[in-house]
Amino acid sequence: MQQLQDRFARRFTYLRLSLTESCNFRCDYCLPDGPDCSSRKYEITLPEVRRLVTAFAKLGTTKIRLTGGEPCLRKDLTEIIATCKSVPGIEKVAMTTNGYRMKRDLPAWRDAGLDAINVSIDSLDPSTFHLVTGQNKLPEIIEGIDQAVDMDFATVKVNTVLLKQYNGGELPEFLKFIKDRNVALRFIELMRTTDNTEYYQRHHVSGESIKQQLQSEGWSLTSRADNAGPAQEFTHPDYQGKMGLIMPYSKDFCDDCNRLRVSSLGQLFLCLFTEQHQDIRKYLQSDDPEPLMNALRDNIMLKEATHGLHEGNSGATRHLAMIGG
Ligand code: GTP
Ligand code: 5AD
Ligand code: SF4
Repeated sequence: MQQLQDRFARRFTYLRLSLTESCNFRCDYCLPDGPDCSSRKYEITLPEVRRLVTAFAKLGTTKIRLTGGEPCLRKDLTEIIATCKSVPGIEKVAMTTNGYRMKRDLPAWRDAGLDAINVSIDSLDPSTFHLVTGQNKLPEIIEGIDQAVDMDFATVKVNTVLLKQYNGGELPEFLKFIKDRNVALRFIELMRTTDNTEYYQRHHVSGESIKQQLQSEGWSLTSRADNAGPAQEFTHPDYQGKMGLIMPYSKDFCDDCNRLRVSSLGQLFLCLFTEQHQDIRKYLQSDDPEPLMNALRDNIMLKEATHGLHEGNSGATRHLAMIGG
């Protein structure tokens, strides 16, 4: 098998594919003005997804994560999951969602082959949750998470963006949440985007203080498994769940970067923190995977060693809904 490998001998086995830039929440760090639906009619189609995933799989990709925006806004989401899962070489299909449709659609997604699910919850306090997301769905989302745990998904992860003035004091509640729940909760440092500079300055908290607090309360840092992703994980003997920290500003983790991203408009992004991208949609119009495979081999040579946040790169792209986090 020809593997996709960059100048730093990193291999790329993981594709994050955004299915839409749209969302039905308006999290104020991401889409404060609500979704812009103008791009919906240009979203990558089911046959294009099949061709894309086929070419990536031929170059060694084994895991697809479907992201957005909110992937469940796609009417053909279940077919997309099944299509990704049916491509030879794809072992794992995962999805990151706001959880809105989980209660209703989890069984269909599981039957279609979804293996793992990550869900965002930025506050466990219903009124704070509403302030941040513009939605009142917290109880249903928690029910969906419990249902996912019962359905034996490979992993159920919960994402919480650290927001000083909203959830800055909620660590005890989140710890209670995972006491008897088999989920991995991850605190994510708020990332600066070109759209949220002022907000970033107001709310950004470093994960380091939480790390110290966890360690002082008996949580142990686990050793990083290969391809473990960006989170540092902690366990505690009295807790069923795990804690994680994703800290792009405090900690470099690019040495073992294993992921590439494609936007819902068919643009290849080599890193979360770059505006530069390559339009690969033209290669998705025929069933011959070779032209796309050649384009991917060429492009991977342009991938930088790190995100450059410590060398002056000012932040991520316009907003994370565009690139899928
Ligand atoms: P898995 O490892 O597949 O479980 O997923 P994940 O934790 O990478 O994915 P998820 O979609 O839940 O994203 C969680 C957070 O991690 C989001 O804020 C992403 O933007 C961030 N993230 C994911 N990949 C990267 C990365 O390569 N670099 C950085 N800096 N952040 C990332
Ligand atoms: N900083 C950190 N995380 C973000 N997400 C979206 N925008 C940002 C940002 N600016 C998170 C979502 C979701 C994950 C995929 O990315 O909350 O959990
Ligand atoms: Fe990879 Fe960029 Fe994320 Fe670093 S920041 S791990 S290079 S995608």
